[in-house]
Amino acid sequence: MTIDELLRWGVPRLGAPREGLPDPAREARWLLARAMGVGEAWLLGHRNEPPKAAAEATFRAWVERRRAGEPAHHLTGSCPFWGRDFLVSPAVLIPRPETELLVGIALTLKLPPAPRVLDVGTGSGCLAVTMAAERPQAYVVGVDLSLPALAVARANIHRHGVEVHLLAGDLAEAVAGNFDLVVANLPYVPEGELPFLPRDVRDFEPHLALAGGRDGADLLRRLVAELPRVLGRGGHALLEIGTGQAELLAHHCSGAGLERAALHPDAAGIPRVLHLRRSGR
Ligand SMILES: C[S@@+](CC[C@H](N)C(=O)[O-])C[C@H]1O[C@@H](n2cnc3c(N)ncnc32)[C@H](O)[C@@H]1O
Repeated sequence: MTIDELLRWGVPRLGAPREGLPDPAREARWLLARAMGVGEAWLLGHRNEPPKAAAEATFRAWVERRRAGEPAHHLTGSCPFWGRDFLVSPAVLIPRPETELLVGIALTLKLPPAPRVLDVGTGSGCLAVTMAAERPQAYVVGVDLSLPALAVARANIHRHGVEVHLLAGDLAEAVAGNFDLVVANLPYVPEGELPFLPRDVRDFEPHLALAGGRDGADLLRRLVAELPRVLGRGGHALLEIGTGQAELLAHHCSGAGLERAALHPDAAGIPRVLHLRRSGR
C-alpha cells in the first residue's frame, strides 16, 4: 500500500470529528509520520511511495488503539513541552499547553543566580526538567505522591541530561524550606466534573493527577498552607488553577502571609496561573 492508500484506510477508521479527535485526517497524517519517523511535510511529498512494512504495522495498530479512545501521545509515548520531547505513560498526566504559561512566567521572575526551585506534583517532570534545563544553575527538586509517575520523571531527567532531585511524598511534607520558587500544577478538577471530562482524559489519564476534591481546590488549599514553611522570605509560588479557584484560595493565601502578585489568564482568557509571594523580602 502507498502512503496515500494507507491514509485513506486510516481516516474513516478514526471516524468522524469528535471531542478529543477534532481532525481525523490531520491525526492520521501525524500518526503515520510518527510511525515512519519522518516529518508530515515529507509524508505529503511522497504520497505514492509505500512505507516500510514495520511502519505500516505500527500505524495500523495505532489507528485501532486511537479508535478505542487512547490518547495519541500514549501511542507515540511522548509529548512536546516547551520545545522538548517528554516521555509519557498512563502513570502521568500528558503535559498540557496551558502549563507552558507557568514556565513562561517563571522564566521572567527576578530570582537569585542559583535559585532553589520546588515542583510539587511533578508527574512527567515537565516543569522540573524545563526549569533545570532553562536555568542550569538552579537547584531543582520534584515531588510526587505516585511512585510510577516518579519513574517517568526520572526517565525524562535522564533523557534531557539535567539534574533534578526527586522525592516521594504528600505535597511538600518531605521537603525542608527556603525555596525561591515553588511551581505546582496539582490536580484541580472538581469531583462533579470528573464524569464529564473527555473520554481520552477520563479513561486513560491517572485519577490521582486530576481529582481535586469537592470544589477542585483541596490540594491547592493544603499546599498554600505549607508554602510559608518551604518558601524563603520574598519567595514566589506559581500555581496552575481551575476556573474560579483564585477566589476560593484568597482567604487561605492571606492567612498564610502570602500576597497575590498576579493572576495570569490562559489563551482562552481563563485565570490559570496564580502568582503568590511570601511577604518580607
Ligand atoms: C495535574 S498532574 C501535573 C503533572 C505535571 N506537573 C504537569 O504539569 O504535567 C498532578 C500531579 O500531582 C500528583 N499528586 C497528586 N496528589 C499529590 C499529593 N498529595 N502530593 C504530591 N503529588 C500529588 C499526581 O500524581 C500528578 O503527577
